[in-house]
Amino acid sequence: MSVAVPESAAALRASRAPRHALDAVVHPNPYSYYASLAARRPFDFDASLGMWVAAGPDALAQVLRHPACGVRPSGAVVPPALAHGPAGEWFAALVRMNDGAAHAAMKPWLKARLAALQAGRDSLAMLDEASQAACADAYLVCGNTPAARLDDFVFRQPVYALAAWLGVPSTQWTEVYEDVHALVAAMAEAGKPAPVEDVLTRAHHAATALRVRATRWLNADAATGTWLRDTARSAARDERIDFGALIANIVGLFTQTHDACAGLVANSVRRFAQSLCAPPPLVERSVAIRLVSDVIRFDPPVQNTRRFLHASAVIYDRKLAKGDTILAVLASAPSGTSADGIAWTFGLGAHACPGRSPATTLAIAGVHAILSSDADLASVAQSTAYHPLANARIARFAD
Ligand code: HEM
Repeated sequence: MSVAVPESAAALRASRAPRHALDAVVHPNPYSYYASLAARRPFDFDASLGMWVAAGPDALAQVLRHPACGVRPSGAVVPPALAHGPAGEWFAALVRMNDGAAHAAMKPWLKARLAALQAGRDSLAMLDEASQAACADAYLVCGNTPAARLDDFVFRQPVYALAAWLGVPSTQWTEVYEDVHALVAAMAEAGKPAPVEDVLTRAHHAATALRVRATRWLNADAATGTWLRDTARSAARDERIDFGALIANIVGLFTQTHDACAGLVANSVRRFAQSLCAPPPLVERSVAIRLVSDVIRFDPPVQNTRRFLHASAVIYDRKLAKGDTILAVLASAPSGTSADGIAWTFGLGAHACPGRSPATTLAIAGVHAILSSDADLASVAQSTAYHPLANARIARFAD
């Protein structure tokens, strides 16, 4: 008589196809689903989501380059739950959340400034130091629980490392991280039908604290020769740069880093843990570089982004009305379909990510810190969960 072996919940979930493109973000292996979506329904309305879904390189390129597609709903740059407070004022000034003049005024400038971040030997040493500080703080917060510590670290480390790279004094890294974390949490909360008031209140306090800090960094708090001081000098010489918008967007660099880099670090660490069949020997930085590069191409941390119709339009031969929403599934375009093999992970068109190179460097520092630490990776190798987010794919190690 044969005895049925009960399947684990994870195995069961992996064997079922995702229900839709948002479910795919947290599915153990969404890539065959994405491939079939791109092949069979590259641009269609999904009634269960109430949105159009664009998949595959052609449909994505049409959406991301279409002038009628905005990054926020027409006339509602700020989500209503965040409006009327410092977090709403901050949100309204972000390049990420604006099209047209506000975007055009800041984006090329910000892109040029981010390109000035050099990954020389001194900078890499600074990123390693910040990563060690993040390890130590994750231990303080979570104690000796490897999975919880790792979950904390993957969010904390990229923010500490970016802070170090820009020139934020190390005494401020912990508080900057806590405030950035609060802002990101509120952005997700604001999209829910009944946002929790405390989460929003905390974000308004965080937005004020970060505005005050960033103003001080540009004025005097950051040391001479740092990216922040050079940025302040360059802005002072350029009359097109609005100082308030600059402050908001410097804070915005941290919020953009928070989830996206956490996904890159966490998914790389999981990939490594699952490949282990024995405790690892000494791990070189080159291993971290390869892991991060593989995750960027094959398991991207940002799986989708949204566009909102500001006018009626015909896209991919379908008629869309003003007010319609499109889910652009970046992770559905295989890595070989862009000129450099990885571009979809960082978006396309006017809003493409200007932080691609620093993001990669930040994540490599984080992955290398974990791989060369005594973290018990064997104990998290079986984890298959993801943080319950609608656009970022971030491996979660604790149950
Ligand atoms: C793994 C890490 C990262 C990934 C996968 C990623 C991906 C993306 C994507 C897909 C977009 C476009 C969103 C859209 O078109 O709707 C974007 C925008 C942006 N990213 Fe990144 N990002 C990462 C890290 C970073 C970092 C470290 C920074 C800054 C230091 C950064 C700064 C920005 C900014 C400012 C925008 C808005 C650009 C605009 O709207 O014009 N990102 N990112």
